[in-house]
Amino acid sequence: MRSPTRYRRRVATVSSDLLRTQAYVGGQWIDADDGRSFPVVNPSTRETIADVPRLGAAETRRAVEAADQALPAWRAWSAKERAAVLRRLASLAAEREGELATLMVLEQGKPMAEARTEVAYALSFYEWFAEEAKRLDGAIVPSPWPDKRILVTREPVGVTAGITPWNFPSAMVTRKSAPALAVGCTMVLKPAEQTPLSALALAALAAEAGVPPGVFSVVTGDATDAPVIGAELTSNPRVRKLGFTGSTEVGKLLMRQCAEQVMKVSLELGGNAPFIVFDDADLEVAVTAAMVCKFRNSGQTCISANRMLVQEGIYDDFLARLTDAVGRLEVGDGFAEGVQVGPLIDEPAVTKVEAHVGDALELGAEVVTGNGRIDGQFYSPSILVDVTPEMRMSREETFGPVAAIARFATEDEAVRIANATPYGLAAYYMTTDLGRTWRVGEALEYGILGVNTGLISTEVAPFGGVKESGIGREGSSYGTDDWTELKYWAVGGLAPAH
Ligand code: SIN
Repeated sequence: MRSPTRYRRRVATVSSDLLRTQAYVGGQWIDADDGRSFPVVNPSTRETIADVPRLGAAETRRAVEAADQALPAWRAWSAKERAAVLRRLASLAAEREGELATLMVLEQGKPMAEARTEVAYALSFYEWFAEEAKRLDGAIVPSPWPDKRILVTREPVGVTAGITPWNFPSAMVTRKSAPALAVGCTMVLKPAEQTPLSALALAALAAEAGVPPGVFSVVTGDATDAPVIGAELTSNPRVRKLGFTGSTEVGKLLMRQCAEQVMKVSLELGGNAPFIVFDDADLEVAVTAAMVCKFRNSGQTCISANRMLVQEGIYDDFLARLTDAVGRLEVGDGFAEGVQVGPLIDEPAVTKVEAHVGDALELGAEVVTGNGRIDGQFYSPSILVDVTPEMRMSREETFGPVAAIARFATEDEAVRIANATPYGLAAYYMTTDLGRTWRVGEALEYGILGVNTGLISTEVAPFGGVKESGIGREGSSYGTDDWTELKYWAVGGLAPAH
């Protein structure tokens, strides 16, 4: 394992205008009213990087008030003007890519190469929605009445809230805020307590790009503050929409809270992705896809392959190739050259992976490669075989670098196992058979399919799930739908045509 480098040298490479340790509310950098703060911890070294304010209901309410005050002017800007600001923001993020990536490695632990890729992914949402803002068209519908015309226009939903996770500290912020701001909404964003620094850096860049005060605020708080901030964001009558990425459990809770005032929600929740390798798969393609899909971000993504189902005829070859590839993965601090797998985000994350593996071994699974926890929050990339549906790792997201493999015989069996879950975010399958490509794709109950690929994330495609994996889509030309409302106009009093 590549050992951690001291974090202080790295912090020094981020300029003070991006290393923000105050919350950003109504265009002001603020501390908590009572002065309390919490530490942001480097998951690689377990050292404190910075202390950030613990805000509560009062400060969150002020952020919402500021968003409400800023709304009329912001929505009155032309789409072209808002697009220009978002494009400027994308350029600034591109210029500061190295610093944004450094902050992300420090607070999240992912390898530098992945952090750079995430910054590019994050700013692509600013670029994409800058363009989409200009295409918010409506409709003129043939009227059944001779003296009336029917129009449909799109309007911003108003003040919105975003709650984002720690696994993609920048991209989940921009995937929500870019469409919201593009269509003329304002937003109060609560980033995960583990990774507030990336969100605060984006707020600083937004201000520099010309986003007016109050249009985008970032409220910070630790795990005990999150329910208080969440309660304010979901009960304040000024807030008309919540966009959330996180666990299904918390998503259901927030949805219940939003129901009280019939607030619009879009939820990107947990997954339990199947990764199916059919006998006719191209082995190299399948192994490459499995590696990226399982070990990107140390397995901490909602679309990570959680259940690998491999058909009998290709099983031994696939397992041998995958075992070889996993054995060559470089684990270590995200700043160390060549590292591919960083630490897990925190101690509970490691404990969960340990519990899943322990449960699987007790129920009869076997470890093919991997040595459990290496040190601190680093977990050895592992493969387990003979994984069965009753094991925890088949039913819940493991969110760690552990490939859980099961053998299957027929296509029907694979599809049945794949669909036997309350989740429906992403599914992957590897095949060279055209008929099977369509049959399986149409049978899988998922929002996203990866066919002969393990890499599916892009700003141009709609990201989101079905069943308990969520509601709504983020990114793509559909990505403005959840941030706008349709308004139907019946315009009467017109003289009938002669
Ligand atoms: C997620 O894990 O929630 C997002 C993954 C991605 O956008 O690639």
